[in-house]
Formats: sequence, C-alpha cells, structure tokens
Amino acid sequence: MAKLNVNGKWREFEAEPDTPLLWVLREQLGLTGTKYGCGVAQCGACTVHIDGVPERSCVVPLSSVKPDAKIVTIEGLSADGSHPLQKAFVALDVPQCGYCQSGMLMAAAALLQSNPKPTDADIDAGITNLCRCGTYNRVRAAIKVAAQGGDAKRAGLAIEHAGRGKS
Ligand code: FES
Ligand code: FES
Repeated sequence: MAKLNVNGKWREFEAEPDTPLLWVLREQLGLTGTKYGCGVAQCGACTVHIDGVPERSCVVPLSSVKPDAKIVTIEGLSADGSHPLQKAFVALDVPQCGYCQSGMLMAAAALLQSNPKPTDADIDAGITNLCRCGTYNRVRAAIKVAAQGGDAKRAGLAIEHAGRGKS
C-alpha cells in the first residue's frame, strides 16, 4: 500500500512505482478533474501542483514523487470554486469544451503564486498549455482580472458577453 498527501489529506492506494501520477489520481483516487490529453508532457491537461510547482502528471512516475510531497489537483484549488482564477474564468466565459481548463487553471494558479502581476509576456511564457478551442486570449484576460482582485476595469479589459454587455 502506498500513500500520498493529496489536497491536504493522506490517501492510500495500490499502484506500481512506474505508474504515472495522473493515473494514480484519476484511477486510484477518483480525482477525475485532472485530464489526460497527450500523455507526453505537451498539452498540460494533466497539470497538478507538487509542492507548489506545476507538473505534468502524465510523465511523473509515482517513484519520483517524494513521500512527503504535497500534491494539489483542481479539486483542491478551492473547496467551492471560489479561487480568484475560478471566479474570473467563469466571469469571462473562458471555457469552451472545458477539457483543457483544469490544467490551465492549475498552471495559472502557479504562475500567480510566483508572479502576482504577470504581463502578457509573462503569461505567454508561463502558460504553455494547449487549448484546441483557442481560449488563449480569454485565459490571459482572466489571469489579469484575477491578478487585479477580480476587477476587469483595473485589468484594462472590456470584454463583450453575449446578452450581458461589457465587464
Ligand atoms: S496529458 Fe500530460 S501534458 Fe498532455
Ligand atoms: S476549452 Fe476546449 S480544449 Fe480548451
């Protein structure tokens, strides 16, 4: 029996040491918010935090995770969707199909932890996740809104919402 600290709780499970962390999270622990996209560290859909660092869990074997590492998945970003980034993503209608968005949020949360007021260039360099729906502009806008405490005007934005005017 192995165990890991995930979202603040010790969780026990059975898995081979070479099992990617992604499959431990999804298959053993039922944390299916973390997605499988490419399996080769390219898309970022599987991004989680390991000791505060964003990692692509599809290429992190269980054997490389320190026993006392603190892992945070999208389910642990906030208990109720109240993280400033989650609120900004909703307010700006960022998700389209949604598949990449857990990874986007985890990458964005790590970026804001290390750089609370990122520029466009910082965001482009820090968020290399792929989105087949092309939400990149709104992801960037939502990160800026979250960085401004949820204030779209202070973030210099005027984004049209269908039926809801500007915000
Ligand atoms: S599934 Fe891990 S980077 Fe694409
Ligand atoms: S919202 Fe569809 S892949 Fe990003």
